[in-house]
Amino acid sequence: MQSPFETTPGAAAIPIFFATKTTWGAIARDLPEQARRFAAANDFTGKPGKCLTLPAPDGKIAQVVFGIEDETAKSRDLFRPGALPGLLPAGVYRFANAPHDVRLATLAFALGSYRFGRYRKNETPDVRLVPPDGIDVADVARMAEAAALARDLINTPSNDMGPEELAQAAQALATRFGAQFNCIVGDELVKQNFPLIHAVGMASTRAPRLIDLSWGDPANPKVTLVGKGVCFDTGGLDIKPSSGMLIMKKDMGGAANVLALAQMVMDAKLKVRLRVLIPAVENAVAGNAFRPLDIFKSRKGLNVEIGNTDAEGRLVLADALALADEEKPDLLVDLGTLTGAARVALGPDLPPFYTDDETLAESVAAHAKQENDPLWRMPLWPPYDSWLDSKTADINNAPSGGFAGSITCALFLQRFVTDATSWLHVDIYGWTPSAKPARPEGGECQAARAIYKLLSQRYA
Ligand code: BES
Ligand code: MN
Ligand code: ZN
Repeated sequence: MQSPFETTPGAAAIPIFFATKTTWGAIARDLPEQARRFAAANDFTGKPGKCLTLPAPDGKIAQVVFGIEDETAKSRDLFRPGALPGLLPAGVYRFANAPHDVRLATLAFALGSYRFGRYRKNETPDVRLVPPDGIDVADVARMAEAAALARDLINTPSNDMGPEELAQAAQALATRFGAQFNCIVGDELVKQNFPLIHAVGMASTRAPRLIDLSWGDPANPKVTLVGKGVCFDTGGLDIKPSSGMLIMKKDMGGAANVLALAQMVMDAKLKVRLRVLIPAVENAVAGNAFRPLDIFKSRKGLNVEIGNTDAEGRLVLADALALADEEKPDLLVDLGTLTGAARVALGPDLPPFYTDDETLAESVAAHAKQENDPLWRMPLWPPYDSWLDSKTADINNAPSGGFAGSITCALFLQRFVTDATSWLHVDIYGWTPSAKPARPEGGECQAARAIYKLLSQRYA
């Protein structure tokens, strides 16, 4: 992604005035007479989201006024300035006064400049911002670039983003930062004991694989990220209806977001030994597909009965988590687009997270809030654990009943993590269903920024 920031010293820039219903009067008083009249004629009152360009006598744009919520409003969208790149004509701009949170407004501006341009003329607005004083522009640019990576990977349709292409994206990242890269492909998964990854991915003509990237001083604390990389989820033999299948190209959203997170960690050179594991598969339909009530012995040794072939994400994550857990990492994080139930509970923009580590939970919640990368804790509720019982094997992947689907998925994954010091699981959606400021419709970066900041604080 091209940086939306204008860093040429002394670049001429059009000032953007942020106004609320309360502050607009005072701001207007300081504007030139003609600008004030023009705003009045256009009924500008500082209504949140309203944008008006004010003309100079020569017809050029002299100022921009943009409405944001009052300081005391019950709900303030701190990313509202992310709408500006989509509203303003091409040019260079600067913030004339402070929005609610200058750093988040700058980040929003960068996030809002993103357009997915792989398949047609790039529509990225040529709207540039002189970064406000006093913010860490490099860090903001790092977060925006990572978000663009996650969005590009998710937005790329499955025909161009299969397990192999996802592995290539991970390999490109490894090359850029001098990380080690390894990939276990196809039948080799069986030989090296990843039965569940193989079972889910074997029906596709595009071979399943386990991507394994590592970076950093081995003496540093071990942080391992695991991302669900289901490049398309048909549901398998328990096939999804067309409405449910439509956006399943996004089912590698967990993988996209752990790659975005890894990019930020490596770019910021955090003092960690980073490992990224991505089981990359396509959940396809074919004669050799895995079936309901099949039983597979997982890497962990637990026999897993298939209650539903559409609960495939937890299966591939189970083998990857088991591998991650073997080296007892200090922090094990997994992200995945695992359940429709998470969206029913909290909607598309507020992913639930799960951990038994109270300190970690507080820290996740605090950083999520601070980065405007919202996350909400849900419980690993022990009384529901028995819902995973199978009549014939150690565990079933899809409890009947269908209650608390995101929780039972988290409880399933928990069985495969026994030795990591702390474990964090996030059931993301990875998709913005309709555009909002700083969040264009389509693939979305979720949880990566909050976790990046948490890691920055722990391992600067
Ligand atoms: N990838 C889906 C989850 C999903 C669906 C996320 C729609 C976002 C939007 C996952 O593999 C899945 O199909 N989960 C099933 C689990 C069920 C069969 C136990 C679900 O949520 O219905
Ligand atoms: Mn599924
Ligand atoms: Zn899935």
